[in-house]
Amino acid sequence: MDKLEQTVVWLKQAAKEYKNEVVFASSFGAEDVVLLDILEKNNIAMRVISLDTGRLPQETYDVMDKWRKKPRLNIDIYLPDANDVEAMIKQDGVNLFYDSIEKRKKCCEIRKILPLKRALSGAKAWVTGLRGEQAGSRVDMQAIEDDKTFGIKKFNPLIMWKEQDVWDYIKKHDVPYNALHNQFYPSIGCAPCTRAISVGEDPRAGRWWWEQEDAVAECGLHASPIKK
Ligand code: ADX
Ligand code: SF4
Repeated sequence: MDKLEQTVVWLKQAAKEYKNEVVFASSFGAEDVVLLDILEKNNIAMRVISLDTGRLPQETYDVMDKWRKKPRLNIDIYLPDANDVEAMIKQDGVNLFYDSIEKRKKCCEIRKILPLKRALSGAKAWVTGLRGEQAGSRVDMQAIEDDKTFGIKKFNPLIMWKEQDVWDYIKKHDVPYNALHNQFYPSIGCAPCTRAISVGEDPRAGRWWWEQEDAVAECGLHASPIKK
């Protein structure tokens, strides 16, 4: 069985076992558009959610909109609680993430984690586009694991894919993807917290790049800290 076939097997398993209680969280990054295309082409019915933090790059909204219009996919966009965001900005300002790791985590909590918790409420499993080679902390993950943060199952059906596999698939199937990937952004998050990388840099080096090189950049979406 090749990697693609194995991914289809895991996605079908998740859909069959958990029916409407499994949720695919998509950021519309390269890995996530591959999974969306696989779901669509294989007619795998699965709820899809995306977290609009309110600070995404325009290119992410552009690709989100393309996918949202696909009739066979059922995509719900979750936003942060307006009262939480207003209180945070009143106390810490709009660019609080640059002030300290603590404030950056507070912003991630309000704009990403709490909306994800809402999106996953009632779900028994979720699906991500994580790949094993993406970061030191991700080599230990499993295709199907217990997510301790959210207390549900977690499927990582692209666990075995290399970056080249992802791009081969996107090109072969002409999959719509985020235009920032053409501008040296291999990993894309919020606009103020993502920059392009240079030749030879780690693919995740552009995320929260101002935090110390050896610091552990924890986003909080995924249980293990993400080591840059
Ligand atoms: S992060 O933890 O550093 O932000 P990363 O950008 O690598 O995560 O994405 C890994 C996986 O997390 C994605 O494949 C997707 O499943 C999920 N994810 C990340 N950001 C979002 C988002 N804004 N909305 C929905 N899912 C997301
Ligand atoms: Fe806030 Fe940056 Fe986290 Fe986005 S990535 S939620 S802007 S701290």
